Amino acid sequence: MIELGVNIDHVATLREARKGKAPDVIMAAKVCELAGAHQITVHLRQDRRHIQDRDVEALKQVLLIRMNLEMGATDEIIAIAHRILPHTVCLVPESRQEITTEGGLDVVSQRARLAEVVRGMHGRGIKVSMFIDPEEAQVDASAEIGADFVEFHTGAYANAGEDQVQAELDRLYACGARTIAAGLGLHAGHGLTVRNLVPVARMPGLSEVNIGHDIIARAVFIGLEDAVREILDILHEWSEW
Ligand code: PXP
Repeated sequence: MIELGVNIDHVATLREARKGKAPDVIMAAKVCELAGAHQITVHLRQDRRHIQDRDVEALKQVLLIRMNLEMGATDEIIAIAHRILPHTVCLVPESRQEITTEGGLDVVSQRARLAEVVRGMHGRGIKVSMFIDPEEAQVDASAEIGADFVEFHTGAYANAGEDQVQAELDRLYACGARTIAAGLGLHAGHGLTVRNLVPVARMPGLSEVNIGHDIIARAVFIGLEDAVREILDILHEWSEW
């Protein structure tokens, strides 16, 4: 079955709106764990707009499931990852003005630097994923620098109009096949929802999705545990393996 990483950044967004203690990010993570999620994903941004250093430290201590740290490849955040030792890091592009992670990482143009980051993580037993757009050159570059996984940015698929959806899916599937052939693990995330997940879940070789906004948004109305469970049900029903 395809594994589910729940991104809980938006629980922290709500907390930071008042700079208080509620809603509790750790409690949210444990509810996701209880509901059957396989991983908790958090993005420690340079601007600390939602997740804080103390959240990452506490999650590492209390989680029974994996912690996946999304991060820009800056020296400051790399040092934090090396100290806290998440199970995986997912390298993402980061610009301070963006509302969310707006595109994939350009691995092609930063091969040498990113290869060094991958080596540093591997030296500490941390597996590395590259958050890339579904483009052949980015897949090839990710394999070349020794990444363990790629996570396809599914934003273009999620935002595609009716006449473009199939083209975006074809692009995902073609690059997915190339990823598997290169021996990398295949993940997907961004903009995935209960309504658009099925065609992505059917992508051959997909082993993990990371979903945040839709789960937290639905949790406001149906509760976090049910919001996680309904995604797990879809993955269970529709994944090819
Ligand atoms: N995967 C990565 C690498 C991301 O940066 C994000 C957004 O933070 C997600 C998954 C989750 O995206 P969404 O919140 O749209 O589900």
